[in-house]
Amino acid sequence: MMEESQSPNARITVFSSAPRPSGFTRELEDDFCAGVQKAGGQCRIVRLPQMKIAECRGCYGCWNPTHRGQCALPEDDMSEARAALLDADAVVFSTPLYFFGIAASLKRFFERLLPLTEPSAAVGSFTGLTMNRPSALLRRRPVVLICTGAHRDKRIFDGVRSSFLLVADALNLEPAGILLRPETFLLDFQGSYPTLHRRVHAAFEDAGAQLVHDGRVTQQCEEQASQPLTKSQEIMDSHFATYWKIAQEQGLGPAQRRELCYLASRDMRILIQELASSYDSTFDSALRADIRFELAGADPDRYVLRIAEGQCHAVPDTGTPATLTISTSSELMADVLLRKIDMRMAYAQKLITVSGNRQLFTKMGKLFLASRK
Ligand SMILES: Cc1cc2nc3c(=O)[nH]c(=O)nc-3n(C[C@H](O)[C@H](O)[C@H](O)COP(=O)(O)O)c2cc1C
Repeated sequence: MMEESQSPNARITVFSSAPRPSGFTRELEDDFCAGVQKAGGQCRIVRLPQMKIAECRGCYGCWNPTHRGQCALPEDDMSEARAALLDADAVVFSTPLYFFGIAASLKRFFERLLPLTEPSAAVGSFTGLTMNRPSALLRRRPVVLICTGAHRDKRIFDGVRSSFLLVADALNLEPAGILLRPETFLLDFQGSYPTLHRRVHAAFEDAGAQLVHDGRVTQQCEEQASQPLTKSQEIMDSHFATYWKIAQEQGLGPAQRRELCYLASRDMRILIQELASSYDSTFDSALRADIRFELAGADPDRYVLRIAEGQCHAVPDTGTPATLTISTSSELMADVLLRKIDMRMAYAQKLITVSGNRQLFTKMGKLFLASRK
């Protein structure tokens, strides 16, 4: 691994292949760059999807002595991208996960780097695999991967992680950090886990600063960047389905991310699931109760949370009597669950009515959301 520190004014170049301007990948790149700049480094983002870079046609012209390591294709934006690679003190490859691989513009960029490899074999210093010898123009520098994906299990990134290490070796780069961010669409649900979300963004910022200061990203920072945002695969899958259902119901595409996420983060189907998953049984481990939410207003519906054997689950409302019934509007309940309004305050102001076990109502703050930060 790279031992020496980067100089404080290190020039870091991020090769970004995220096509979506309002996407999560770009947001996390921005966090990373903010960290670079805070640490005194300079950050340049090369936006590959906006560049005209033709596909490698596999002619091997660049290995022909007449071309001397230059591409045989007509000049295009690859000259600029190649110069940015050679010039940087450290490099970041950033991509959304597309079909378990990297986005097309980054792949195309890599393919066009064949002229920076030689027609002879060499053993990659990181992977130990034999591959093309990197050109002498490629001095050894750190490289970091940023990859974002929609799903929860980090194995979705296995293909990108292993190809990143191989590409790093092929370009004589030193792998210095792998920042993977699963469950990206949940990053907008800030109301449910405010501290957790801040920590994820902070991890990307810290990673940028660490790259400038130490020439590498710590494992702790990598883990913080990719920590799960949901308690289980089941909850994640349910949120995923609800999110896309809202998009379809409202006719919103991913380009309207802000609107979609505003609606999704206030959606009662998601909020009730989150409420159930925040249940803390340590306060009263013997509790058995059904809590019904009767919601009027813009999104009228009924939800039941069943507490038994130290667990809490959202269950279908069958109309059987509940231990506690909380009635209010869906808008107010969303504000309560997003912690914009205190539930007991809303009750005192008669914005919420309660029937059944009122003592249980007074314990709600300890049973739910207390551990959720
Ligand atoms: C064409 C395409 C393919 C995708 N393939 C995967 C995939 O294989 N696995 C996954 O978890 N997410 C996949 N996604 C979701 C994106 O990786 C994820 O939403 C990412 O955070 C998007 O980045 P963005 O917000 O910067 O656009 C795919 C998205 C698109 C558009």
